[in-house]
This record gives sequence, structure tokens and C-alpha cells, in this order.
Amino acid sequence: MTLTDVRRSVGTGVARIDGEAKALGLARYAFEQVVEQPAYLHPVQATVARGRITSIDTSDAEALHGVKLVMTHLNAPELADTSDGEYAILQGPGVAFRGQLIGAVVAETQEIARQGADLVRVTYDVHRHDTRLREDDPDLYEPDAVNPSFPTDTEEGAVEQALRSAAVVVDQRYSTPMEHNNPMEPHSCIAVWQDSGVTLYDSTQGAHGVASALAGLFGLEKSDVRVISPYVGGGFGSKGLPHAHNVLAVMAARLLPGQAVKLALTRQQMFSLAGYRTPTLQRLRLGADADGRITALVHDAVEQTSRIKEFAEQTTVISRSMYTADARRTTHRLAALDVPVPSWMRAPGEAPGSYGLEHAMDELAEACGLDPVELRIRNDPETDPETGLPWSGRHLVECLRQGAERFGWSGRRPPGTHREGSWLVGMGVASSTYPANVMPGNVASITYGGDGHYAVRIGAADIGTGNWTALTQVAADALGMPFENVHVLIGDTDLPMATVEGGSSGLSSHGSAVVAAARKFREEHGESPEPGATSQASMAENPDAGKYTGASFGAQFVEVRVDADTGEVRVPRMVGVFDCGTIVNPRTARSQFMGGMVWGLSMALHEHSVMDHSIGQVVNHDLAEYHIPVNADIVDIDVSWLDIPDPHVNVLGARGIGEIGITGTAAAIASAVHNATGIRVRDLPITPDKLVR
Ligand code: MOS
Repeated sequence: MTLTDVRRSVGTGVARIDGEAKALGLARYAFEQVVEQPAYLHPVQATVARGRITSIDTSDAEALHGVKLVMTHLNAPELADTSDGEYAILQGPGVAFRGQLIGAVVAETQEIARQGADLVRVTYDVHRHDTRLREDDPDLYEPDAVNPSFPTDTEEGAVEQALRSAAVVVDQRYSTPMEHNNPMEPHSCIAVWQDSGVTLYDSTQGAHGVASALAGLFGLEKSDVRVISPYVGGGFGSKGLPHAHNVLAVMAARLLPGQAVKLALTRQQMFSLAGYRTPTLQRLRLGADADGRITALVHDAVEQTSRIKEFAEQTTVISRSMYTADARRTTHRLAALDVPVPSWMRAPGEAPGSYGLEHAMDELAEACGLDPVELRIRNDPETDPETGLPWSGRHLVECLRQGAERFGWSGRRPPGTHREGSWLVGMGVASSTYPANVMPGNVASITYGGDGHYAVRIGAADIGTGNWTALTQVAADALGMPFENVHVLIGDTDLPMATVEGGSSGLSSHGSAVVAAARKFREEHGESPEPGATSQASMAENPDAGKYTGASFGAQFVEVRVDADTGEVRVPRMVGVFDCGTIVNPRTARSQFMGGMVWGLSMALHEHSVMDHSIGQVVNHDLAEYHIPVNADIVDIDVSWLDIPDPHVNVLGARGIGEIGITGTAAAIASAVHNATGIRVRDLPITPDKLVR
């Protein structure tokens, strides 16, 4: 399969088509869409972590001048489907976590709505809550599957026996904390309920998915819900599905027919309403022979979910395919706690799982007396260890070798032996990986507008990744037209069906539909179409589906400097080499890889949602106290890629790149910190207190 005989646009670093509008402030995000005489909604949130509302007094809020509606469980619309505990808000007096939505005030201004929400007086019958994840929690359970549908546990070979007879064994525990995705644009929407149906301007990674979910909740046909979402200021998984605030806005709109209801979550509200990454408690047991060949690999994870809705992060799935092992076991156990609902956060599963696995690999290299790059090369599997299928293209070893060269890995010294002034200097490495996901069901249409210009329609999203631009490049090449002649329309459920821009599947999935539509257009209308000529097509079936394991790989190298007196960790250099198939747009791709690596650094050193278990709330719930890196924390990031097309995963030859950059990074940094100091910090984040003893 090839995209087109003559590639012209794919592979060039076209500037993003939405860049100018965004830079000039002209791009309208969901909350900025123009509607007539909007009203503003401010949520009322539960102030206990578990219990029942015994009384709710709305009289003062209702008396406030400018208030149009006070909504509680006593007057909220009944939902047609209450099976999803996150969405089934205001259906009764129960409270399942602190911050849960229990009401709303809609008013003429945002300020009045907020004041009104403060005036709603709620009393509770408070129940005992539990928000603490513990490995010895007697109520841990085995979910039926882990996100999205992987087997919960796998076992192959005689694991315990292999561990007993291994020449070298690493048996360690690693933990990652609760972390919150914080896209720059908070979750926001405008809902309008009319006889003809609901219109929702929303900040989402997938307009069609939002429409389907809301239609089910409100007993509507999907075609009765129109979702419009042209510009999105980041999502990182937290906008991959609608959240309860969308339901709240549509409920309020239903009680105020014809009235546009605007809702933008505050940064603090996002910490309980927009999903987050579960904390993980991981145990890795690696057995190897004297040459460092892995004979046993066991990866167990304990993580949390909310009591009202299960989300089971696939933390140990990465260990099923990453390295060879004669015997292997992977497990997941969940604690259902009185906490907000966890969800997708950039590389759910792979991000925390790669931290545990790759850190343990570093410890195994040390125990075997092997270079950690060499250990990974020795355990690079020829075929997928889990399925036995061939790889669609696995070039991890090249990534490791090229990265080592670019980075100057040969200059690495033994742990704790390199000091420059007060700085302890160290180097670390880790592998990266992410599956090559393609979602079925995408459809695109193409219309010739005359004068050499084509309109391509697909209801996809661009959450800031460059998907819109890259899709235009793909469409241009598939039509054999210059980039400038192709106009792609996205972000609207009036456009053909598109799946979520998530799971690093956006361009692969949407692009496959665009190519199919272009081919059909040429078949039906030839090279000289009449203006108005239109063709629509679903993505073609991939003839190689099920015959290969498609996954991307990468290698990350970092240098750290640890202040010997204060424990401050700096990361002056990072090198990432990635193997993700064809790179459609080098400019936007570089940003994706780099952004992922920055986030991996953030995961290693900064991010930690601190839960006050006495009240069941994340207390550092803003960007002043939830630490992320600033520009001064990021110095030199060198990103490159192999650019080897993958002929098996999809018609583009491209594997997704949105998430791989965050995988492995934290382990590389932890390994470098050990190399600098001789100290193993296994519990993230690596804060100075863990290094100064
Ligand atoms: Mo990504 S966390 O699958 O949007």
C-alpha cells in the first residue's frame, strides 16, 4: 500500500493552518462562540466525600437579582440512562465524591451565577469515606478488563520456578502519584435546547462521541444533538469523552428552552470533574541469566477507581510485549474509592507502566553488570512475545544505537562518581513505546468547488496536535493537488463520522478515511470533475489487519545534575529518537515528541496531586501548587526519528505520535538520578527531600 505515487506535501513541515488564527486570538474556542444573550452556569459541588444530601435550601440563590435558574436533584430533568455513574448527576441525594456536581445556578453574568452557587445551602448525612490507595486493601478486586479492553491478567510459562532458578533477580516496588491533566483551555461548553434538538459548542477530542453520549443520556437520537468544536486548547485524554459538566449544562438548557447556557470550569473544578491519572503501586520482578537474558518478568499493579464508575488503567500491558521473557505474568488490581472518576491522561497505561518496567530494567542492568542499552538490545524480541505475530516494524535497537550516539552515552561513568562543583552528574536511558491504534468507523467526503479547489469534510478534532494540517497534507497528496487547494473542515457533527482524537489514533484513523474518499472521488469523477461533484467513503479495510503487531518505539537519553547540598534536580539535556513510521509533518511532529518528553520530565520531577485524605480532596488544585515545568526547567531537547514507513498499519504508513513521547522519560530521569547520586528513588515524583538524607 502506498498513499500516492508522488508525495508532495506529506513529509514537509507545513505551518499549521490554524496557527495564525490562534496567534491573533481570532480562533473561537467553545466558550467564545457567538450566541445571543447567553446565560452563565456555575456548578454547585458536594463538600463531603461521601454521604446523602438531607436538605438543600435554594431560596437565597433564587432571590438573587439576575438568577434565571437554580437546579438541584429536586428539579433536575430525569435522565433516560443512569447506568454511567459519572454522568448520572442530580438524579438523587447521594454524594459519591467531594466535588461531585449536585446543582447549578444559571444567571445573567458569571459573577452572579457564582454568587448564587455560594448561596445554595446544603446539609448532608455524612458517611465514612476512604480515598487512600493501599496495596493491602482487603477490598482490592480484579476488573473484567483493563482500558480499553485488554485482559486484566496474563500468565505464560512457569514464572515462580523461573524466578527461583534465575542467576539474577530484581524485585522492587515503584509508585506513581495521582496526576491531573491540565490543558490550557479549561473544559467548557455552551448548550442550547430547542425544539429541533440540542446544540452544544464543546471543547472536545471527539464531537461525534459527545453527541452519542448525550443523546443516550437525554433520550434523543444522535442526529438531534449537534456538537460544534472547531478549536480545542488541549485535551490530553481529559476531553476524550464528555464529562459530567456537559450533562449539567444540557440539563440546565433543557429547563431554559431557547436560552444559551455557557459553562467554563474553573481550574480548581477541573481537579474533580475532568478525569485524572490514577496513582499506581507497581511491583516488578525480573529474573535473568548471567548474560542478562530475561527468563522471568512479573509486573503487578494496584490502582484506584471511583466507586461510581470503573476506569481500570492498563498499567502492566506494556510488559506483555516490550521485552523477551521465558515466563511472564502481568496483573491489575483495583480499589474502588470515594474519589473522582479517573480517566485517560496522555498514554494511560504506558506512561506509568513504562516507568515501572524501564526503571526495573535499569536495576537489572546494574545487577547483571551490563550497560542498560545493551541489556535492552539483548532482550529485544523478534516477534511480539504476547501473540507471536511479527512486528509491523520494530526498530527499537536502531533508536537505542542512534540515541546513544547523538547523546554521547559512551561518556557515562559509574554511579556517584561524576561531580562538577556542587553538581552530581548522571546519565540515564529508557525505551519508549506506544501501540499503533487505528479506530474503525471513520468516514470522509470530498467536494470539488471549482477552480482546482476541493473541500474535504470529516467530523474530526484537532486538539492542538496539528491533525487538521496533517489531514490537509494527506488529502492534498491523495487528490494529487497542491496543499493550498485543499480545504479540510473538521469539528462538527454535521460533518461525517470521525472517531476520537485520542489513543494517538487521530491522523491514522481520520487520514485513512480521507484517502479512501479521495480515491473514490477520482474513481467517480476523474481528474476533471464538475463543480459540486462529491464522493463519500469509509476508511478501507486494512488487508494486513490481524497479521502484525503494530507499535511505535523510541529511546530516550537524559543527563541530570543533582545539587549535592539541596537535592535540586536539573535536566540540561534530553535526546529522543523515535520510530513511528512515516512522519507526515516534521514540524508538528517534533512538537508532539517534545511535548511528550517535557511531560515525562514533569512526571519524573514535579507532578503530584496531593490528596488530603481527611476531607477527600486534592488540595493543590491549581497551577500555583500543582507543579509543572516552566521554560527554565527545560533546556536542550534533541528530537529525531527514523522515518521508516510502516506498510502494514494503515494506508498512510504512519503510526500515531501523540503519546509515545511521555513514555519511558520518567524512568530515564530516575535512572540518571541514580547514576548521579547512587540513590534509587522509586516513588515519583523525585523531589529534593528524597535525595537529601
Ligand atoms: Mo489520549 S490520553 O488517548 O487522548
